[in-house]
Amino acid sequence: MGEASPLLHFLFVSFPAQGHLNPLLRLAKRVASKGPLVTFCTTLDLGKRISAAAAAAVAESDSDLIPVGHGLLRFEFFDDGTDPTDPHRDDLDILLARLESNGPPALTNLINRQTEAGRPVSCLINNPFLPWALNVAENLGIPSAVLWVQSCAVFSTYYHFHHNLADFPTEEYPDRTVNLPGLPPMGPEDLPTFLLPSNPYKPLKNVILAQFKNISKARWIFANSFEELERDAFDAIAARLPIPVIPVGPLVEAGEPQEKIKADMWKPEDRCIEWLDKQEKRSVVYVSAGSIVMLTSSEMQELAFGLRNSGRPFLWVVRENLRELLPKGFEEEIEAEGKSLLVEWSPQEKVLAHKSLACFVTHCGWNSTLELIAAGVPAIAFPQWGDQVPDAKFLCDVHGIGVRLPTPAARAEIVRCLTAATDGPDAEAMLKRAKKWKEIARAAVTSGGSSDRNIERFVDDVRKWVA
Ligand code: UDX
Repeated sequence: MGEASPLLHFLFVSFPAQGHLNPLLRLAKRVASKGPLVTFCTTLDLGKRISAAAAAAVAESDSDLIPVGHGLLRFEFFDDGTDPTDPHRDDLDILLARLESNGPPALTNLINRQTEAGRPVSCLINNPFLPWALNVAENLGIPSAVLWVQSCAVFSTYYHFHHNLADFPTEEYPDRTVNLPGLPPMGPEDLPTFLLPSNPYKPLKNVILAQFKNISKARWIFANSFEELERDAFDAIAARLPIPVIPVGPLVEAGEPQEKIKADMWKPEDRCIEWLDKQEKRSVVYVSAGSIVMLTSSEMQELAFGLRNSGRPFLWVVRENLRELLPKGFEEEIEAEGKSLLVEWSPQEKVLAHKSLACFVTHCGWNSTLELIAAGVPAIAFPQWGDQVPDAKFLCDVHGIGVRLPTPAARAEIVRCLTAATDGPDAEAMLKRAKKWKEIARAAVTSGGSSDRNIERFVDDVRKWVA
């Protein structure tokens, strides 16, 4: 079974949210492909929801070990005491408090089970919102790493804020522009919204900043980004931190051999691809706001009418909890017309790679941002909060592969931006830039590319530690 070494065992620990699971699982597969055994874990409650995909992969193998490149991957979950009948079990405050109290003993047990089974953990890697996982690793004498699931620019911004290393907007000076090394000047309209005095989401701000309290316990800090995309930001933060922030992305998987091992929290609708197959080349507008963003009723109405008035075919992901905000009769109208498609969850990377796609109307979550860069698709950016705002700025103003929708976006603006991104005077140049970035992004993660070499080096470092 390949060159898997039972002595080298990486344990990946994920916060239970789609935007965290995807990049961590993708990194887990890349590490496994280099030879080691990898265990991927998250909460039992979430494990049950994602295990359909994991189980499908397991079913094709002869044990719970899934071959990935030269190594092996397995799933195991820890019970954080979630009551599956509690309708508030996913509320962020409640989830964070439960994980903080029940997570450490449950994770410790899981790690001890690995030792008893003859596969002691060589290294633990966790993603944001689980700072306590680093303490568990430290207590058990296991080296640890963190995967930052947003851009290096955003890491740097939070880091400078947390350590009071720059002047940010305050109640007194709300219009202040922030100057950080390696980044363009950022006004309040460009900063992660959690850092503005007007931020209404205090728990999210707190949990993001809490990570910086014990991040120095990690021996490696990885970022889901690539050197070529954010070279200045990576260089500048390296000068600030005792250990570098290492690019290992873009953690995308379209076209990768292991793309069917997934952690979708909802079932992707296969009819998306069947429908895209019937559309003309470069004609379809794909629309998605990721897994957690809630739009207001008026935002949904404007988006719906803007898309319809554009006259272009569209594929729109409308999650179940947003459906009731669609204009009355809209779904029926779309269905009767047969020109566009509404779904609850799409196989997003396959959609982005499809030849009939023209552009992506996106909320600019970092995973979606990297996925569109790696697919070479121009964006129409409608960021809502947090890191989505700087992601949109970089996509549109720095890399030149997106058009920014004003907020709030009226339907006429939506039509204008769709035209600008597909038929406008800059559309062709934008597509050319998008294709250039696609090549650079792909090269970073193929064998011998900048991020691939960093992953290889990490596995070698841990191998030396174990030996
Ligand atoms: C969250 C935050 O909102 C975001 O700001 C942060 O950068 C990451 O964590 P989310 O809003 O879910 O993420 O967006 P995003 O980062 O884009 O992640 C969504 C993931 O779900 C992507 O990997 C995307 O491919 C996937 N997806 C989305 C699907 O597979 N199908 C869909 O229909 C929609």
